Amino acid sequence: MQLTKYVFQPHGDERGQLVALEEYKEVPFKIKRVYYMYDMSPGIVRGRHAHKNLQQILICIHGSCKILLDNGNEKKVVPLEKPYEGLYVANNMWHEMFEFSEGAVLMVLASELYDESDYIRNYEEFLNFYGKQDKE
Ligand code: TYD
Repeated sequence: MQLTKYVFQPHGDERGQLVALEEYKEVPFKIKRVYYMYDMSPGIVRGRHAHKNLQQILICIHGSCKILLDNGNEKKVVPLEKPYEGLYVANNMWHEMFEFSEGAVLMVLASELYDESDYIRNYEEFLNFYGKQDKE
């Protein structure tokens, strides 16, 4: 499974750090939507779905968490522990976010507007949609 983890360039000086992300530059797609999650309940798992078209970059801008990526054949767990790291999540990846540290904030840059019909929320349906195609 190909993983793309970005290490963004912080613009640091004596005042602190700043990371800037531009579409088609640091981010390989047009950014149509940004959302973020915070106040996660202890032990909670978020996500648990795949998308038919949506591409995303996940950035844990405060605290840390782990991301499970599953292409139907293979699973990988990627820690996100720095505010300058981003994980690319392709459209065909089942993904789950978990082990959020207290106070963690996970920001997501998304290539499409919110569209519930783009979600695959059932794992069996996901395997039918992607996993079996990959095995042929
Ligand atoms: P949900 O997809 O359940 O979050 P997770 O990624 O953890 O599975 O989204 C939670 C709620 O927020 C749900 O009611 C849909 C809504 N939502 C939007 O309205 N717009 C968005 O861009 C997103 C990602 C979610």
